[in-house]
Formats: sequence, structure tokens, C-alpha cells
Amino acid sequence: MDSKGNSEKKKDLTCVGKSVRRVDGWPKVLGKAKYTADHSFEGMLFAAVKRADFPHARIKSIDVEGAQLPGVEAIMLEEDIPGNPRFGALNPHQPVIISDIVRYLGDGIALVAAKSEKIAREAAKRIVVSYEELPGLFDPREARKSELSIHPEGNEIVHHVLRKGEVSEGFAAADVVLERDYQTQFQEHAYLEPEAAVAVPQPDGGITVYGSMQHPFSTRRVVARVLGLPLAKVRVIQGELGGGFGGKDESSSIVCARAALLALKTGKPVKLVNTREESFVESYKRHPYYLHYKVGAKKDGTLTAMEIEIVADGGAYASMSTFVTWRSVVQATGPYTVPNVKTDVYAYHTNNTYTGAFRGFGSPQIVYASESLMDELAAELKISPAEIRKKNFYQQGGETATGQTLKHVVSLEPALDAVLAELNKKPLEQNANPVFSRGRGFACSYRGVALGAEGVDATGAVVNLLEDGSAIVSTGVAENGQGLRTVFSQIVSEELGIPLEKIVFLDCDTSSIADGGPSVASRCTIMGGNAVRHACLQLKERLNLSEQPDLQKAIKATLNAGKSLYAFGWHNAPKVSWDEHTGQGDAYFTYVYACQGVEVEVNNQTGETKVLRAVAAHDVGMALNPQQVELQIYGGVTMGAGYGLTEEVILEKGVTKNPNFNGYHIPDSRMIGEIVPIIIENPDAAGPFGAKTIGEPTCELLAPAIANAILQATGARVRTIPATPARVLHAMQKEGAPA
Ligand code: MTE
Repeated sequence: MDSKGNSEKKKDLTCVGKSVRRVDGWPKVLGKAKYTADHSFEGMLFAAVKRADFPHARIKSIDVEGAQLPGVEAIMLEEDIPGNPRFGALNPHQPVIISDIVRYLGDGIALVAAKSEKIAREAAKRIVVSYEELPGLFDPREARKSELSIHPEGNEIVHHVLRKGEVSEGFAAADVVLERDYQTQFQEHAYLEPEAAVAVPQPDGGITVYGSMQHPFSTRRVVARVLGLPLAKVRVIQGELGGGFGGKDESSSIVCARAALLALKTGKPVKLVNTREESFVESYKRHPYYLHYKVGAKKDGTLTAMEIEIVADGGAYASMSTFVTWRSVVQATGPYTVPNVKTDVYAYHTNNTYTGAFRGFGSPQIVYASESLMDELAAELKISPAEIRKKNFYQQGGETATGQTLKHVVSLEPALDAVLAELNKKPLEQNANPVFSRGRGFACSYRGVALGAEGVDATGAVVNLLEDGSAIVSTGVAENGQGLRTVFSQIVSEELGIPLEKIVFLDCDTSSIADGGPSVASRCTIMGGNAVRHACLQLKERLNLSEQPDLQKAIKATLNAGKSLYAFGWHNAPKVSWDEHTGQGDAYFTYVYACQGVEVEVNNQTGETKVLRAVAAHDVGMALNPQQVELQIYGGVTMGAGYGLTEEVILEKGVTKNPNFNGYHIPDSRMIGEIVPIIIENPDAAGPFGAKTIGEPTCELLAPAIANAILQATGARVRTIPATPARVLHAMQKEGAPA
């Protein structure tokens, strides 16, 4: 097998492993794909939301008198909600709209439906709310100590622990002990399409909701709960998704529930689309982390102990904080063998925008900190960053911090070597202009695949083979834009010998397929791909394809025998385990490994940093579609560059100061030069055709690689991201670096 992954087995495949074109590409580039806001129904109304005016306040009264404009058809308050107005994956305390206490500025207070969006927005503006302002908490470290409680159950959302060995002994055995603090920011998902929903009342008293969401089944749960309807009467259909990146779960469920409430109340279809500003203020963000690392090592670089304490800002509602921070506690040491580990990860409520799932899911923060730390430790020990990593890397047959034995191929060293070889093809050349300094850095990571021990991990797929040899496919996991429809179609094509043009992929519709769990945790390819394969294998058996290689004849014979060519495949993840008291167990059924390296150029006068070149090596198990893998790498690396350099939602006392893309800067082509993807393949027994994961790992490595490169370029270590020009300059001044 070479570094581009040309395994022998792959040569026998006809469709899987090939860079076939996206099956849903044409409608998108031709502008024909139907996004949620494109849906329109006769007599449709438009909705708007009256939002909170303070981040923490008791509502004294709500006056809707002035909002009764001509064209307004309904105004709803919390008391008008027929079902349960609160929801939440673990803690059902999040309101769809609220009438007692607002806990952040994104809270909705009243809903309006009107004949036009303009009237609805004007009416919402005219709703007068009087409040008693309450003192707020805006820093999770303060919330940890404060007497003030944001929720009756207290400010602590979760505390995860991991205990391995005895850290005091590990530090006593160390030649060097280093302590460092790092800090990360609120990050916005920045999907192009803001949250949107169109709800259509049905003759049986039920509702159909078209929405921009990544998990239609969790949306169905919220909508049914809020409307007080059985799940079967709520049909949720995922529209074409203009990006999710983990951000379209609760944020989308709320928007769908609000549209559905107004639709049932008025008996008419209702459309609700958030503006970009509303999306920024209301939707959850990536958790900011405050990370304290203490590490002990021998002179030769062998790690002896790590003690880690992390405090996460969970914002106003619990959302996915428990799950996000769980991934952090599992992976906090980085991919290194450490005999003694003590990790504590906490999340606290504040009156900031709440935080939740975001591509990477609790790993970009810890990868940034632990990979900065490894370089700092290497410098302290005067050994190279590559050497210290190689000395401590997890190995096949070795044990992780959670006590799990890694039985599969651990490809950390090949990934690191591939990145260094590519980066060092050319020597580092400084810009002739002394204002600019260039440097290189890299970072490594391992990542648990799929949900792991944080939840039940299972999913299903239907393959409906038709008499003419075409097929209709649907799955319980939804396309986010990552290319799921394409790779699943490739699996069907490969298994049944059907050309891709004869395969139709249905939108995810909660009334026609079983709940397949969320499109998160980069679980779709491995979980959904296996489910598709199971369905195909059933069909192959029924078609008796081993005896009858002519598909058309086999279809006819099978149908004539009275057998169905409709198959439902279900895939259950391999067993995992977790002891929440010790943080020990087989946390994930398999892992992926990666390394990203970067060359940066820093302007010593302004502190501005550009990525001249990025190299990303990822072990994906098996690339079902190498081009799609590369596209994920391009997107993820760019997202990682934004995380490392420019992206930060600035919240001052709960107020979002930059609620649009003029103040929130996602990277563009001027900031990033060439991106070189390197695919490494070590087929995994748990994956379809050996495939594992690529979606999330791509975005969790560039920030520390950049921080390490900035150090090489300037001598300054940035321990808070994003490394904005001001932070870089500040670090340079502190370190006495050349300015
Ligand atoms: N790629 C695109 N184009 N759009 C997205 O919304 N989401 C990311 C990633 N890549 C996303 C994307 C996230 S958050 C996840 S979890 C994975 O895709 C999901 O894909 P997979 O489960 O098939 O790996």
C-alpha cells in the first residue's frame, strides 16, 4: 500500500474507491436544488420572533397590543403552547419561547405569523416586554464559584473525570514538569444557509415540517413534544442543507417547532427563516475552553504524568455540553502514552449564547492545547517536536489514557512522516522583506470514531431494487453536504452492480425510515455505509447473485418467486464501555489518526499571519471516494485556519458584538495558500470496505500547527486562539521577539 492508498484489494472494485462525481452535484451548481426557504405553499404565512432584550432578566409583562397590525394572523406566547414548551437532549430545560426568565439574548419571547415577513417583523418589534434585570454570569470560571444560579439545578452542567495511575508518582519521577494555560473562543458554524423551516398543517391534525437540519429525528421529537402530538403525526423532511457542521440540531429544532406552532394555530402553512444576525445570536456555538495542563517528562522526552483541568462555557442551556466535553476527557492527553493521568473536565452555565455540537465536538480545543504543549515541552527538553511525539505516540497493541488496548493499525508515525516529507521538500525560505518572518509547525491527533460510549450508536438504510434494475435508496442519517448520498450510492452500485445513474437517493423523511441517529461524530460513512451494505447483502442473497450473474434475470426470477426486492439494513456499532467514576473503558470502537503541518508568514509589524501552505495527512481506513475525502480536507483545513487565526464570536456581557460576516471573519483564499491532502489507508474491520472517518478530524489540527509555526517564525507563543494580529503582537512583545 502506498501513501496515496492504492491497496491491492481496491483494484478489484468497480465503483467504491473511485472519485466518482457527486450524485447531487448538478442540481446544486445549476441552482435547481430546493433549500428550505425555496418551499412555498398557497396561503403561506411568514413568521418572526420577538427576542429578549437582556441576557438575564425576569419578565414582568408582555404587551402585544401594539403588534396587532393589519395582516397579522397570530401572536403566540409560552402559555399558548399546547404541549411541553421545554426540551433538551439530556436536560429538558430549554424553552421554545419563554415567559418567565430569559437566560441569554437569543431567547424568544413571542411568535408572530403574518401575511408578509415585513409585517411579521414589524409586529414583533412592537411587542413590549417589561423586565426586572438580573445580574448575569458571563465567565464559566466565575459561574463555578458564584452563589448566583442561572438554573434552579445550579450552574454545573457536567464534571467528567479520568483517573489512570498516580500522577503524584509520575511527577516525582519526571526530570521536567511544565504547566501551561490555554484558552479557546466561541466559534460560529458559519453555514451559508441560516436556520429555516416551513410547516404545513395536515388534514388529520398532524403537521409536516420542511427544515434545514442535520438530524430530522431529533427535530421530530422536539416538534411533537411542543405540539403535544404523537411522533407519528409529525412528519419532518430534511430540505437540501446549506451546511450544518454540527450546528443544525437544537438551533433548527427550535425554528421548526416555532413554525409548527404557528401553522397549527392558524391552520395555514408558515415559513420562518432566521436572518444572519438572528442566527449568530440564537444558534449555539463551539464551546470556549479554559485549559490548564501540567505535564511531567524524563530528559529523553518520555512522558511520566499529565494533570489536566478544563472549564468549558456551556452558555444558557445544557444542549450537548455533556457529550461534547466527554470526547474531551477521553482524548485530552493527545495520542500519547502517559502512565499517570488525572483529567477533570467541567462545563458551567453562563448567560452567554449556549454552546453545543460543532465539527470536532470537543476535540479542536484539546488538540490545540495538547499539541501546543508538546512543542513547549520539546523546547524545554531541547529535543525536536517530531522526536518527542514519536517517543510517546500510541502504538498498535498499546494502551490509551482510558485503558483501551488499540488493536487496529495506529498510523501516527506514517502520518507525521508524510507531512514532514511534503513540507520539507523545499527548505524554509525567508521573505526578502525583513518585515515578514516565516515558520513551520505541525500537530498530530487521534480521534474516536462515531458516538462511542456517549450514546446508542445504530442506524438503518433501505435499498428498494426495482424491476428494471434501478434502485431507490434512503437512510436514517441525513446528508449535510459531506457527500453521504454519493458514497452510499457507490456502495449500492458496487454491491448490486447497478450504474450510479440508476440510483435515486431520497431526502431524509422521518415518516418513511427508522431513526438513524444524528449526522454527527463523523459516524455516517461508517455507520450508514454499513447499514446500506447490510441491505445490499440481503438483496444479493435473495437474488442468488452468486449463482446468477445476470442482474436482470435474477430480478425477474426473484420477483416471480414472490420475493420482495425491498431490503432494510440495520447496523449496530461494536461494543464500547465506560466507567464514569474512573474514566476508564473502551471509549470508541476504533480511532483515526492524522497529522497536519503548515508554513506561515507573520507580518512582524502588524501581527497578521498568513498560511502559505498546509499539508494534511489523514488515515481514513479506506477512501470510498478519494476526491470527496480531499474536498473534506480542503474544507476542514480552511475551517481549522479560521479557528486558529480569525474566527471569534465576541460576546461582551452576553451581547454578541459581531453578529455578521463583516465582523466575524472566516478565512478566504487571500489568507490560505496551497493545501496538500495526503490520504493514508489502513482498512478497518469495523468499516464498510474498511472505511472509517474524515469529516471532523480535518478541522482540529491546523490551529495548533499554526501556533507552533508562529513560534518558529517569531519566537512568540500564542496561548489564546484565534491568533489575531493583536494577540500575535502582544505575544511578540512579551517574549521580546523581533518586532
Ligand atoms: N461537510 C459539508 N460540506 N457540510 C457539513 O455540514 N459537516 C461536518 C463534516 N463535513 C459538514 C461537512 C460534520 S460536523 C460532520 S460530523 C461530518 O461531516 C459528517 O459526515 P460523516 O458522518 O459522513 O463523516
